[in-house]
Amino acid sequence: MTRVAVYPGTFDPLTNGHVDIITRGAKLFDRIVVAILVNAGKEPLFPLKERIDIIHEAFRGHGNVEVESFDGLLVDYVRRKRAHVIVRGLRAVADFEYEMQMALMNRHLSSEIETVFMMPAEQYTYVSSRLVKEVAALGGSVAGLVPPVVEARLAARRDARLRQDV
Ligand code: PNS
Repeated sequence: MTRVAVYPGTFDPLTNGHVDIITRGAKLFDRIVVAILVNAGKEPLFPLKERIDIIHEAFRGHGNVEVESFDGLLVDYVRRKRAHVIVRGLRAVADFEYEMQMALMNRHLSSEIETVFMMPAEQYTYVSSRLVKEVAALGGSVAGLVPPVVEARLAARRDARLRQDV
């Protein structure tokens, strides 16, 4: 049986914490599908297509890492992919309550789907997409916290904004 896992999220943008989890998941499962939620109810910095392109670029050559978008209930998408596992990263205690609620709600909706939590390498436990965007927008360095493709795109956005302000 092919073991397929779905790693869902907003990925606005992909961080090295996400990369770490995807890399670990790709070793555990035959295929890991990185699934980007289409309508997160919040205005993303990076449009969906760009977020997909970034993940494709970061994982070029990794045959068992796929990237897709999804809308609606996560468990419905997981069933459509014929997967039985949802992968989520757990960084710190602060993540726990939200993650537990989601895992148990998803189990309530679909008892045959299991959520598997993975810890990223400790150097990424404080890294979040939200903080990365904030630091980059204010001119701080995010080198080492995000893949080079994300660093370049964040810098380009900041430069464009600075030019508009002149
Ligand atoms: O990266 P994020 O923003 O923490 O990811 C959250 C995500 C996309 C995993 C979550 O919002 C989700 O699964 N949304 C789909 C809607 C859904 O299924 N909701 C009910 C189960 S909690």
